[in-house]
Amino acid sequence: MHRITITRPDDWHIHLRDGDMLKRSVNDVAAWANRAVVMPNLTPPVKNVNDAMAYHARIMAALEGYPQFEPLMTLYLTNSTTPDDIKAAAESKLVCGVKLYPAGATTNSAAGVTGLETLKPTLEAMQSHDLPLLVHGEVTDPDVDIFDREAKFIERTLAPLTDELPELRVILEHITTEDSVNFVAEARSGVAATITPQHLLFDRNDMLVGGIRPHLFCLPVLKRRQHKEALRRAAISGNPKFFIGTDSAPHTVETKESSCGCAGCYSAHAAIPLYAEVFEEERSLDKLEAFTSHFGADFYRRPRNQQTVDLVKIDNLSPDSLQFGPSTVVPLRAGELLKWRLE
Ligand code: NCD
Ligand code: ZN
Repeated sequence: MHRITITRPDDWHIHLRDGDMLKRSVNDVAAWANRAVVMPNLTPPVKNVNDAMAYHARIMAALEGYPQFEPLMTLYLTNSTTPDDIKAAAESKLVCGVKLYPAGATTNSAAGVTGLETLKPTLEAMQSHDLPLLVHGEVTDPDVDIFDREAKFIERTLAPLTDELPELRVILEHITTEDSVNFVAEARSGVAATITPQHLLFDRNDMLVGGIRPHLFCLPVLKRRQHKEALRRAAISGNPKFFIGTDSAPHTVETKESSCGCAGCYSAHAAIPLYAEVFEEERSLDKLEAFTSHFGADFYRRPRNQQTVDLVKIDNLSPDSLQFGPSTVVPLRAGELLKWRLE
C-alpha cells in the first residue's frame, strides 16, 4: 500500500456559511486543516471587526472537537470600508485579510465594490498595516465575455493596483487561467495565488459536454483545457506563490439543480485526496506537501504546522450527497471513486 506523510495542511480560501450549514462545513475542514481563511460573503456580509468576532464565535461553537482548528477571519471590502476599519482589523488577532468582490461578480457579492478609485485611502491603510488584500479577480462589465473576465481584471485593475501599492500583499484567489499563472509568476514579490481542486481536475468540457453538470459550476467558471494544464504546471512548480485554497462553497442541491443555478463546488469532505490525485497524475507527489502545507503559511507569515497527516492510496467512494442540517449538498466527485484517503 502506498502511503505518504505530509505536514498537516491549511486551507487559505473557504466558505463556511452560517446557520444550519455551518456545523458540517466547519467540521469537514477542521478534520484535515489546522487553519482556514474564512470568506466573508454572508448575507449580510462580514464588514468590520465586530462582525468578524461574532462570526468567529459562531464557528467555534459549531466545532465538534478539533481544538487545534483556527479560523482566520476576513472582512468584506465595501465602498464604505474606512482606514479606521482597516486599523481595527490589523490590530485584531482574528482578522488575516480583506476580501475584494467586484459588485455582482459571484455569490453574495451585491455589497461588493463598484470601483477602487474612492477606496485609495483604505487600500493605503492596508498597505501600511500590512493587511493582505484577497481578490476575486473578475470584471463585471456586461460587455466582457464570462470566459475573459479574469484576464480583463488583471489588465484593468490588478496590474495597476500592484504597481500603485508596491508593498500591498495581494492574493489572487482561485485562479483559472494561464493569464493569471503568468501574471502571478512574473509579478513583484508579495503577489500570490490560490488554486482550487476543481480547476485542477476539470475543464469546461467536463461541465458542458453531453449535458450540463451544475455541480461543476463555480466562479470564476471552468475554462478550456489549456488553462487547466497551466494551473497544474503552476501547482506542481514548487513556486511558493501558488498554494492551496479550496474555495469549498456549499449550496443546497435545490439551488444548484435549478433553472438559474448557484455558483460554487463543495470539496471540504475530500480536498486533500483530490489534490493528491492531481499531483500523482503529474508525477509530482513530492511537491504536494509544500503546496498544501508550507507556501500558504509562509505567505501569510504564520508558522508552518508541526503535526503530520498520512495519505493512503486506496480506492474509496465519494458520497452521493452530504447532509447539512435539513439540507442536502452534492459534493465534488459525488458517487465516484477517489484514489486517495486521508488518515
Ligand atoms: C463562492 C460562493 O458560493 O460563495 N462561489 C464560487 O463559485 N466560487 C463565491 C466565490 O468564491 O466566488
Ligand atoms: Zn470563494
